[in-house]
Amino acid sequence: MGYQAHFRVWRGSADGGELRDYTVEVNEGEVVLDIIHRLQATQCPDMAVRWNCKAGKCGSCSAEINGRPQLMCMTRMSTFDRAETVTVTPMRTFPVIKDLVTDVSYNYVKAREVPAFVPPEDLEPGEYRMQQVDVQRSQEFRRCIECFLCQNTCHVIRDHAENKQAFSGPRFLMRVAELEMHPLDEAENRPEAARGDHGLGLCNITKCCTEVCPENIRITDNALIPLKERVADRRYDPILRLFRR
Ligand code: SF4
Ligand code: F3S
Ligand code: FES
Repeated sequence: MGYQAHFRVWRGSADGGELRDYTVEVNEGEVVLDIIHRLQATQCPDMAVRWNCKAGKCGSCSAEINGRPQLMCMTRMSTFDRAETVTVTPMRTFPVIKDLVTDVSYNYVKAREVPAFVPPEDLEPGEYRMQQVDVQRSQEFRRCIECFLCQNTCHVIRDHAENKQAFSGPRFLMRVAELEMHPLDEAENRPEAARGDHGLGLCNITKCCTEVCPENIRITDNALIPLKERVADRRYDPILRLFRR
């Protein structure tokens, strides 16, 4: 049975904005993105929202719903009490362009700062051989849909914009970890790059990134902590230290 829901949506631009209240129809089986689309179709044709797949796979429709970073297309209306007001705001960590659309270019800058996979020189594509266990390890990380909800949630940049220069965020530290764990990657000292170039030391393992990941990637346990361990191994190994001296 359909009903009328109370929605509160942030409307505005880089110059400022406000939360506006709407009453809007909800039907069985709908998700938050359906309701935003209905608002666009019936009450506010100029409302800006970014989306593509409506299937939790493109990573475009990230927003904060009742303060929790989530994908709008994967958040069922049936998870809310019918009487409650559902508040939808743009991701807080990135600058607003308009309404629910933010400028996520910070993430593309950080992506470019991670050096690409370096295969062994004497191997042609097709000659790579890996253990299944190594394939499985990186497969978890490659489920990432680049929704940037983890980046939005991590307090290192959410509450401290001044850290954006030094910190690549969980998504791209995970990318460094993925390459570091690749048995055929020959890039020089990725753990040291994670520490020096990507700000791994600023992560204090709060795990908020893992909690909001819609792909359930265990970012902290399987990528960030092992990367920290590899940094410690290399920097504080007494034999390696002796060689360095
Ligand atoms: Fe989104 Fe998870 Fe990828 Fe972060 S790691 S960008 S939360 S899918
Ligand atoms: Fe941030 Fe995740 Fe570390 S939330 S502090 S990157 S564990
Ligand atoms: Fe593609 Fe939501 S529209 S993930």
